[in-house]
Amino acid sequence: MNSTTTEITNENIVISKNNKKKVFIETYGCQMNFADSEVVLSILKNNQYQKCESAIESDLILINTCSIREKAELNIRKKLNAYKKLKNKNKVKIGVLGCMAERLKTKFLEEEKIVDLVVGPDSYRDIPNLLNKVDSNEKAINVKLSKFETYEKIIPERINSNKVSAFVSITRGCDNMCTFCVVPFTRGRERSRDPKSILNEIHLLEKKGFKEVTLLGQNVDSYIWYGGGLKKDYSKASPLQKKTSLKFNNLLEIIAKDKPRMRIRFSTSNPQDMSDEVIEVIAKYQNICKHIHLPVQSGSDKILKKMNRLHTREEYLNLVDKIKNKIPNCSISHDIITGFPSENDVDHLDTLNLMESVKYDYGYMFKYSERPGTMAQKKFIDNVPLEIKNIRLNEIILKQKKHSLLRNQQFLNKTVCVLIEKESKKSDRFWSGRTTQNSVVVFPKKNFSLGNFVDVRIENCTSATLIGNGLRISKDI
Ligand code: SAH
Ligand code: F3S
Repeated sequence: MNSTTTEITNENIVISKNNKKKVFIETYGCQMNFADSEVVLSILKNNQYQKCESAIESDLILINTCSIREKAELNIRKKLNAYKKLKNKNKVKIGVLGCMAERLKTKFLEEEKIVDLVVGPDSYRDIPNLLNKVDSNEKAINVKLSKFETYEKIIPERINSNKVSAFVSITRGCDNMCTFCVVPFTRGRERSRDPKSILNEIHLLEKKGFKEVTLLGQNVDSYIWYGGGLKKDYSKASPLQKKTSLKFNNLLEIIAKDKPRMRIRFSTSNPQDMSDEVIEVIAKYQNICKHIHLPVQSGSDKILKKMNRLHTREEYLNLVDKIKNKIPNCSISHDIITGFPSENDVDHLDTLNLMESVKYDYGYMFKYSERPGTMAQKKFIDNVPLEIKNIRLNEIILKQKKHSLLRNQQFLNKTVCVLIEKESKKSDRFWSGRTTQNSVVVFPKKNFSLGNFVDVRIENCTSATLIGNGLRISKDI
């Protein structure tokens, strides 16, 4: 496939406005939400809105929301409360986008009187029309979910971009139905994006000087393209479709070959869907980063089953072994939930033991939060007391810190290739970047520039950061 075919342009949805209004957008939650906010800004830019940097100067405040845990929703409610004064004073319009909008629908308008606009993750193209309604002092809502990729022809408007790395969505929605998870309800059915439009977006990013893309999906390994539509079920595809279908490993390989001077990352991999072919293609191409985010959620077979994770502890550990055998320098990170209904001390120890076996490079660790409408909420009682959840979470975090330090210490006195992404937060005399394993490295700026690949000698480390000295521009990436 040739990525330099037709270039996509932003679609033009015209509304009747003469002068530009200011929009302030605030994003919560996952990388996908950040990517979606860039799509929303692109749609608004073509409709007489310009982005601004503070809520006070804006005509429209948009909050792109997250529903994954109760705490995320509470934070958003707090934020809305804080905007109340501004609304009374400046007459600014307020819109809620994303997962919380989808979950609560019209309830949001009833519960949060200051909200004018509610838009679910598949309805952003409708925002200009909805805003026309809002301008006539009507409340507006669209929370329809789609069975098709909704935004593939829109070039995202990169927000606060470092001009070095960018997110590129490749799938939307999720069909997995993990019992604890609200995402299948808020983001709808899983669908894959046309590979041509993915390649075009990456091509445009490369032309603008970007050096790294992260391919995004709730479950990237189940990416499949038959030439359109929802058809995910391989067994139902016609022989011709099967012959010409494109899976995640094919997509990775096409991008890796097409863009040899760009780094390619991806997230998230679901253990049950990760194929040998994907592992092989990561091993084969230097520009595909040697890092896999492989959420495990729990080390107990009993809990994995109740979570509807479709693999056992043993299968997961075998997959990790396979990855480490085929890609010895590959880092692995995780998501773990502690305190799922009926989790006892033995289950918790199973999780700690599994961590001990894998020695993850890093991870994201959460207390179970019951979400309305999920299978777990309907079938199980949230019966692990909060104090126990807290104790278990602390034990998990402590163990992870120990392993992260151990993993980082492996790089001491070695030279690694770092892509410079930004200035270090702690000192303007230092750059911050990442290795192929996704480890954060800081080092003195010297004459190096943003976007350079640099060989850095590692001299010190903490559990979170490698500290080194830049030697030269790297031949690697
Ligand atoms: N496949 C998705 C997962 C999205 S949710 C992805 O792209 O990352 C991210 C993580 O949040 C999950 O892996 C899980 O560990 C955690 N999570 C999801 N629902 C949760 C809940 N109800 N309580 C606590 N943590 C949860
Ligand atoms: Fe959620 Fe499981 Fe999908 S965690 S996003 S239902 S893979």
